Formats: sequence, C-alpha cells, structure tokens
Amino acid sequence: MSDTQLKNQILSALSFAQNQVRRLIETHPTFYPLYTHHGHWKHDQPAWTHWCDGFLPGMMWLFLESGHADDPSYWRAHAESYSRALEHRKEDRDVHDLGFLFYHGTYKNWNDATVREGKPNAALNDVVTRAGEVLAMRFKEKGQYLRSFISDESCFIDIMMNVPVIFYAAQQLGTRNSELGTNLHQIATAHCATTIRTLIRGDASTAHEAIFNTTTGEFLRQSTHQGFRGDSCWSRGLAWSLYGFGTCFELTRNPEYLRTAERHAEFYIAHTPADGVPPWDYDHPGSLTTQHFLPDSSAAAIAAVGLMNLSRLLTDSLRARFYKDYALNIIQTLTQPPYLAIDDPKWEGILKRGVYHIHKNLGVDESVMWGEFFFVQALVKALAFC
Ligand code: GLY
Repeated sequence: MSDTQLKNQILSALSFAQNQVRRLIETHPTFYPLYTHHGHWKHDQPAWTHWCDGFLPGMMWLFLESGHADDPSYWRAHAESYSRALEHRKEDRDVHDLGFLFYHGTYKNWNDATVREGKPNAALNDVVTRAGEVLAMRFKEKGQYLRSFISDESCFIDIMMNVPVIFYAAQQLGTRNSELGTNLHQIATAHCATTIRTLIRGDASTAHEAIFNTTTGEFLRQSTHQGFRGDSCWSRGLAWSLYGFGTCFELTRNPEYLRTAERHAEFYIAHTPADGVPPWDYDHPGSLTTQHFLPDSSAAAIAAVGLMNLSRLLTDSLRARFYKDYALNIIQTLTQPPYLAIDDPKWEGILKRGVYHIHKNLGVDESVMWGEFFFVQALVKALAFC
C-alpha cells in the first residue's frame, strides 16, 4: 500500500471514529461505557473495576488535536463537559488508574490544548498534578510498589501506564514544593524498579500481577487476573509496559526505561503474527492455531502508539524507522475489517475484536473503550508520519 493510500485509509477511519462517538453520546448522553456486549455499549454486564471513563472525552480531545475534527466546536464543548464531570475522580483512592483518567484521557489533554492556544490555565494543570499526588498514596513502603485496586499485596503491570502522572506531578511541583516533588519522583522511580524486578522476565515478556508479603515486602510470585496463567504473557500487559516505560523515559530520560521499552518492542515483534495483531495471551494454546486464535485488537492499538513513541525517542535512525514501519503495519491492519467495524452498521464500537476479561467472560471479542481510545491515538500519531 502506498503512503497516500494508507493516509486515506487512516483519514477514513478517523472520520468513522467521529461518527461512532457522536452516535454513542447522542444515543446515551453522559454515559461512559467500558465495553460492548454483542456490539452494543449499553448493557447490564458488570464493570469489574471503574477505570475507563477518561477514554471517551480523551477521544474527543484527540479529534481536536488531529486537525481533522469534523465539527471542532461540537467536539470542544463535549470534550470539556465530559472531562469536567470526571474532575472529582482526582481524589479516587479505589483505583490505580488515575493516569488513564487524567494523564492520557482528560485534563492533561485539556491543559495541552490551552497551552497550544497560548492561553494556559493553571487550574487544569493542578487537577493533573493532584491526580498524581493521590495515585502516589497507593505506594507500599514494604515492597516499594503502587498497590493495585485488588489488595495491598498486589501490583499490576497495567500500573506502568499510570506512573507517568506521578512523574509529571513531581515535575510540576518541583519548583513550588520541592520536598513533595522529590518524594513523588522517588515513589515513581521505586515502582518502576520493582516492576522491572518482579513483573518483567528475562525474555522481556510480562506477568500481569506480582504478589508480595505485606509484612516483609518480599516478592512471592507472579500471578494473573486477565491473562491465561501466572507464568504466561498477557499481550495487553506487554503493550501497557511497552508504552508505559517509553513514556516514563520521555519524562525522566532514565535510559533503563528506554531499554525496557525496546526489549518489549522486540518481544512483541518476534512473537506477533505478521499482521501486527497479537493473541490475547501469547501462551494460550489457542494462540498457536488458526481456528482458536483470539486476537486482542486493543493490545495492537496500544503497541502501535508505543512503537511510534519509541521511534520518536530513539537516536538510532534505522531502529526508529523499523518501529515506525511496524506500527504503520499494525495500523494498516486495524483500519479495515474485520477489525474496523465500518461494514457492520449495527455495531456501535469503532474497533472490533478486543478482549477485556476472558475468565469473567466480560467483553470477549467486543469493542473496548481503551481500544477505541488508543486506536484513535494511533491514527492521529500516524498522520504525522504519512
Ligand atoms: N485492567 C486493565 C486492562 O484491562 O487492561
């Protein structure tokens, strides 16, 4: 496919994404969905945890950032109102997802938009900073990690996507309250080190969960909730870590984070089928067959953005080009059926074939809200390359 053809395919997917998001918010105003059930956003299936609300306004901010918003004032009004309704979540102590909510999804994007417009609004930035401070309260001195929403003994690989909001808060506080800023930086740094030690294996695959002895802080074992087994590699966890460590490098310039992200990139590329979309878990027996292969398109979208970010951060231009080309290959796959839902008028999502929680049978082979968001982010970032 030529660059022009790919660009047109990306623009068409971006336009389809805007149609689907508009359809969602006009059919179900003020509703923040998590995953579809038989292609429908509104259903009575459980959420398991409450972590995705920022992705819906996050897509609206991305439409605006892309320069291809079909109705900028419509998207701006909704991006602001859907973000504002989440501000109280900055104090949420029940989830480990404040980075998803405020750094990736809502107030950081809102703040960036005002900076681009030359009208920075410190109050918006303060919301992001506060979210970082509150997330850091999950830190367990014994064990040196941010605890997951499950329990004190549990640390998730997913948290690597949320650590950036703590590094960011540390930077913002640096001049105003240097003691608090230093403390936040130390917490985020310690969490990254613990993740590398306990959740990332020698071959750069990832475990979903690390379990600690809460009395001594000793690391006990790897485990999982959403992956196949404690010793398997759940592909979304790998993608979260790839993207998360790349972002932490961008915020700190710590070369260990860049190396870690690159190691994940190599694992992803070596173990994923040629179209760039991984199985939901690399070690599930079905992943080796054509008949029982179950992809997770959301992992592919996250990895595509993570690889494009790496390609921007690397000084080795050959490697940078390789990661960029691989990411564009993923995007070429995802911007057409059976992944893009463009030929299924009844399907309410943008991207089909995501997996949320296979063991609980929640959102299996469905659209998932983070998959929608990172797919749109991948489209917007890819436009800069073609
Ligand atoms: N628990 C976050 C995820 O499903 O990736």
